[in-house]
Amino acid sequence: MQPAILAEGLKKRFGPVEAVRGVSFAVRPGEIFAFLGPNGAGKTTTVHMLTTLLRPSAGRAEVAGFDVVRAPTEVRRRIGVVFQDPSLDRELTARENLYIHGRIYGLGGAALRAKIDEVLDLVELRAAADQPVKQFSGGMRRRLELARALVHRPRVLFLDEPTLGLDPQTRAHVWDYIRRMKAEAGLTLFLTTHYMDEAEQLADRVAIIDRGTIVALGTVAELVRRIGGELLYLRLEGGAGCRPLPGVQSCRELPDGRLLLEVEDAASALPRVLEALLAAGIRAREVTLRRPTLNDVFIRLTGRELRDELTRPGATAWMRRR
Ligand SMILES: Nc1ncnc2c1ncn2[C@@H]1O[C@H](COP(=O)(O)OP(=O)(O)OP(=O)(O)O)[C@@H](O)[C@H]1O
Ligand SMILES: [Mg+2]
Repeated sequence: MQPAILAEGLKKRFGPVEAVRGVSFAVRPGEIFAFLGPNGAGKTTTVHMLTTLLRPSAGRAEVAGFDVVRAPTEVRRRIGVVFQDPSLDRELTARENLYIHGRIYGLGGAALRAKIDEVLDLVELRAAADQPVKQFSGGMRRRLELARALVHRPRVLFLDEPTLGLDPQTRAHVWDYIRRMKAEAGLTLFLTTHYMDEAEQLADRVAIIDRGTIVALGTVAELVRRIGGELLYLRLEGGAGCRPLPGVQSCRELPDGRLLLEVEDAASALPRVLEALLAAGIRAREVTLRRPTLNDVFIRLTGRELRDELTRPGATAWMRRR
């Protein structure tokens, strides 16, 4: 089957900055594919190349079967885009925004009016359809942008940080609409996010991108399995740090003073760890066991937290026993 999106060695350079350093991936029709990475990873730059707004410096890409450089008009006809930065006309009503968008795509008449009602229903904005957008909350604007991206029946939808800046409740709603979009329209969705929970909630497959490079690609389950085990958090008396411990694959000191240990099997490792610590005269004051998340995968691959604000220089020193 022809991929909905194909990228081969895609690169973008802005002067001295290599924003995207040769990414390759194929998105299957009907799939929700997420690009997960921290600020500045190259997510928006990739979306801009795939949506024909930026010319790649090297490599190639196809969307809905058309080359983004050689056939940009064919690509644009088949895609919908929700940009990271808002792009609605604030003075117009929701319905007017959608109408103008439809006219740009050559739609009109009763068919366009019916489609507008349909997409307004999908994002539950029918009641606010005739209010100017400047009266909308941030969440309502985001929903309207989702609706607008669907008016011309795209085959591939690009969502750049669809829930950036929204409160948790509104984010959950937007996730629902995104799931509905996939179910109802059979669309292919490419979304970028720096929220690991968003990728975990929505994506069939995730590409983890860091500094312009895809560092891992697979289903959430596949990626998490790469951690290969379970995680133990320990708070030790006297703030004792990492040391060689039985059954422990790696150890990291966290900013809050706890130790994060990777173990193959927590049930068998924990008693041995506590015993070894006691033998060294150290008591554990707190023990927590957790299954790995995508954030743990990111830490393993890059040595940093996915969320920039948690990054602390020096917190990345891994003690490896393998
Ligand atoms: N037009 C531009 N000119 C110069 N540098 C740019 C330009 N656009 C992006 N960059 C740089 O390219 C890198 C990738 O930026 P990009 O916007 O693609 O990241 P992102 O993953 O979308 O980040 P965010 O999560 O903050 O949206 C950054 O270092 C950024 O400063
Ligand atoms: Mg971005």
